[in-house]
Amino acid sequence: MTKYSRITGWGKYAPEKVLTNQELEKMVDTSNEWIITRTGIRERRIAAPEETTATMSVEAARAALDKAQLRPTDLDLIIVATSSPDHFLPAVSSTIQDMLGAKDVGAFTLVAGCTGFVYGLATAHQFIANGNCENVLVIGADLISRFVDWEDRNTCVLFGDGAGAVVLTASDMPGGVLSFVLGSDGSLGDALIVPAIGCKEPFSQKVLNERTHYIRMDGRRVFKFATRIMSKAAVEAVKASGLSLSDIDLLIPHQANLRIIELARRHLGLPEDKVFINVDRYGNTSAASIPIALCEAIEEGRVNEGDNVVMVGFGGGLTWAATVVHMGVMETLPRLVAWRFVPVGSLSFEEMKVIARATMDSLAFKASALLLPLYSKTGLRRRRK
Ligand code: UT7
Repeated sequence: MTKYSRITGWGKYAPEKVLTNQELEKMVDTSNEWIITRTGIRERRIAAPEETTATMSVEAARAALDKAQLRPTDLDLIIVATSSPDHFLPAVSSTIQDMLGAKDVGAFTLVAGCTGFVYGLATAHQFIANGNCENVLVIGADLISRFVDWEDRNTCVLFGDGAGAVVLTASDMPGGVLSFVLGSDGSLGDALIVPAIGCKEPFSQKVLNERTHYIRMDGRRVFKFATRIMSKAAVEAVKASGLSLSDIDLLIPHQANLRIIELARRHLGLPEDKVFINVDRYGNTSAASIPIALCEAIEEGRVNEGDNVVMVGFGGGLTWAATVVHMGVMETLPRLVAWRFVPVGSLSFEEMKVIARATMDSLAFKASALLLPLYSKTGLRRRRK
């Protein structure tokens, strides 16, 4: 039987060091004013020398596992989305699996630039829906500051480091990941590229001299692409979920540029309070941007039980992806995942309350799906007039 995949845990990690626009003014020919007006970024986090993509991921993953009340060995799969792994080989997903103590758990790394986390969620959902996995850890992490040319003002002001993670858990209760849209247009690959140090141009003195081992970006091309694709992907994902835009409680977009987010919001006709923004404090953390934003949205009470959330991203490839997630009961007690098999007498009052809420949520969600075509919110509003 097809299973639903619900988000049962979430966690984030951002390095302690804050790099402000004022500090960047002393490093390259830029200004606080230019960065704020063109991007909305005020500061970003930069990893300490001893930190790596793996160490940041492990912090975020531990927080997500704690929330889900799972041990690392309860996981069936670990998916890590990153474009800045610790090494080309071994895959950073295996390093993370080992550091977490998730003995023998399958792990792989997925590269889809800043879009990677949503690709990861969609992939994890397949393993759960097919009945192959119960608990999948999805991490989005990037330590982009090590791949940025700190002499290139076109890129160095934009990026920051961080990691975010969620646990997806199999459930019989409708909800969780409702739909997703994945896309790629490799013909635009050179708009955001690390030109060398792959097999096409291995590391050499020439690479070092030309600084082609760092990120190069044609900002205007990426900007144009992003403003076109963000709203399109979000609309397609919402349509595929069977919901309508008016049913969406929060949009969590990739945090690359406030102007891109604002344009997407306007195209979608969403009010400002339905869009989550934290690009001002983190800059573009690549694959970590959406999961960090999701965590903060939950922590700030912007995502609540029963909410429908759209996450939409774009990035290197160029790629894009969007997903609609019905958040369901967010207070997780893992044994309740199989609650039908737990004797009622052994449940605490708190656990009973969670079950009651989960059942109500499930019934309400089923009912809303059935009634949606007949009684959409707009339809009801029109009838009242
Ligand atoms: O996750 C995906 C990653 N990438 C993105 O999301 C990037 C998408 N693109 C963007 O966000 C924007 O294109 C940028 C923020 C990168 C640039 O904003 P823009 O409004 O598109 O500026 P522009 O490229 O048109 O450049 C305007 C001017 C140029 O000077 P000239 O040629 O007009 O004399 C740049 O040289 O701004 C100059 N410039 C800067 N000036 C001060 C570029 N970077 C800086 C800087 N400080 N840091």
